[in-house]
Amino acid sequence: MISKKSSRRGFIKKAFGSALATAALPTVLLGNDKRNVVELEAPHHPEKNYAANDQVNVAVIGMGIMGFNNAETTVQIPGVKLVAACDLYSGRLEHAKEVYGKELFTTKNYKEILDRKDIDAVIIATSDHWHDRISIDAMNKGKHVYCEKPMVHHLDEGEAVIATQKKTGKVFQVGSQRVSSIVTLKAKEIFESGIIGDLVLVETWNDRQGPNGAWQYSIPTDANAGTVDWDSFLGDAPKIAYDPVRFFRWRNYQDYGTGMAGDLFVHLFSALHAITSSKGPNRIYASGGLRYYKDGRDVPDIMTSIHDYPATDKHSAFNLQMRVNFVDGNHGGERLRLVGSEGIITVGWSSVRVDRSPTPKAPGYGGWDSFNTFSEAQQKEYEKWYKAKFPAAKPKMIDPGMEFKEPENYNTNVDHHLAFYNGIREGKPIVEDALFSMRAAGPALASNKSYFEKKIINWDPETAKLIS
Ligand SMILES: NC(=O)c1ccc[n+]([C@@H]2O[C@H](COP(=O)([O-])OP(=O)(O)OC[C@H]3O[C@@H](n4cnc5c(N)ncnc54)[C@H](O)[C@@H]3O)[C@@H](O)[C@H]2O)c1
Repeated sequence: MISKKSSRRGFIKKAFGSALATAALPTVLLGNDKRNVVELEAPHHPEKNYAANDQVNVAVIGMGIMGFNNAETTVQIPGVKLVAACDLYSGRLEHAKEVYGKELFTTKNYKEILDRKDIDAVIIATSDHWHDRISIDAMNKGKHVYCEKPMVHHLDEGEAVIATQKKTGKVFQVGSQRVSSIVTLKAKEIFESGIIGDLVLVETWNDRQGPNGAWQYSIPTDANAGTVDWDSFLGDAPKIAYDPVRFFRWRNYQDYGTGMAGDLFVHLFSALHAITSSKGPNRIYASGGLRYYKDGRDVPDIMTSIHDYPATDKHSAFNLQMRVNFVDGNHGGERLRLVGSEGIITVGWSSVRVDRSPTPKAPGYGGWDSFNTFSEAQQKEYEKWYKAKFPAAKPKMIDPGMEFKEPENYNTNVDHHLAFYNGIREGKPIVEDALFSMRAAGPALASNKSYFEKKIINWDPETAKLIS
């Protein structure tokens, strides 16, 4: 039980008192369901001019879908210059030059990037099985690292990444961008106000519908053993003959990817941990199956898991239900619902909502209750007794709820990349550092372990390690 009564009262007054007086708030709109909707303020990023010799030179390693997305985001940060790109498929290197100019240095060998003295930082957006190796090599070569989620491919790889970050002192951030989102920060503020009382349950899901969402990405017609460096792609994975399906749809295979848990659970864990300051669960069980996309993949297309979170000084003990369904039958969608004794915080991709309904202290009587079965004399006696026992019982509070939305052009990715460069330039602490990221990747990968081994996994959220 956490006592935050004074801050809770302050927040309730601020959020609900003022929002009810809609006329007083210029940004308040009244939603269809009579909820009060407030547009969040995007952070102000002051224009900064950096001299040519004060640029952060960055390279992207893994110039696929997320590599291009990260490149596009990162060049929006003042004082950041994209100078090189590395990928294993020629077409993507060609396209990198088409987008960023012929002078962009391109290579299929990431070590050529790490050897360049003029490169300060790398963004790693390869398939999951290369994350740990390239992160470690890059930090050891003096580069700051922005690595895509999940931080590692296997549970036993986390320790070395955390240790290398500590040893080298380089800035290291993982790419679950919602950790830096204004929606997440607002949800955190709401949660920390104590407005929903004791957290008892979290329900979260990320559902999709359609082949692209289920990772059946396009395969270029010019892909062949000449345009794709298959041997380099394999890395520490089992040696097998060139297979374009495995290369372009690597998420479907455990040898290179981390399935639904590593791909999507990890985002949900990162957001949950950022909001609640939790370090993770201590008990994990997952189930699911391959129901629809029987295309040769060796990972499920529906996965559901339950996680027990122990109490900490930041939150009460709670249970977490997590789900990813690629056969959603309803256009997909995602939510993170924090259920407390006095209300619910519902976090979506671009908004957060809070609804209050405090659990009454007085039990009430009548309705679906044993009271009606008592003799008439006993009912009278009981009423007398009840009124003496609960004299101040108030009717249930009806609350209009409150929603905070991102402004239209807000881009979470930009704020996440900015956090990385603020770490490099100003030494600002990185929230999604190696330990935070292993505390998110760990329970996700442990969910895979539970699913494949059909057993409950015990996890130490403090050290981010398996308990055997
Ligand atoms: N943060 C997010 O929202 C988000 C979204 C999508 C993907 N991701 C992450 O980004 C990463 C990449 O995903 P994607 O969808 O872009 O995959 P992708 O297949 O489109 O791109 C991966 C690229 O990595 C390259 N690659 C693999 N091994 C390499 C190596 N050793 N050296 C150089 N290049 C190598 C491949 O050639 C490929 O082009 C994954 O880890 C994924 O989880 C994050």
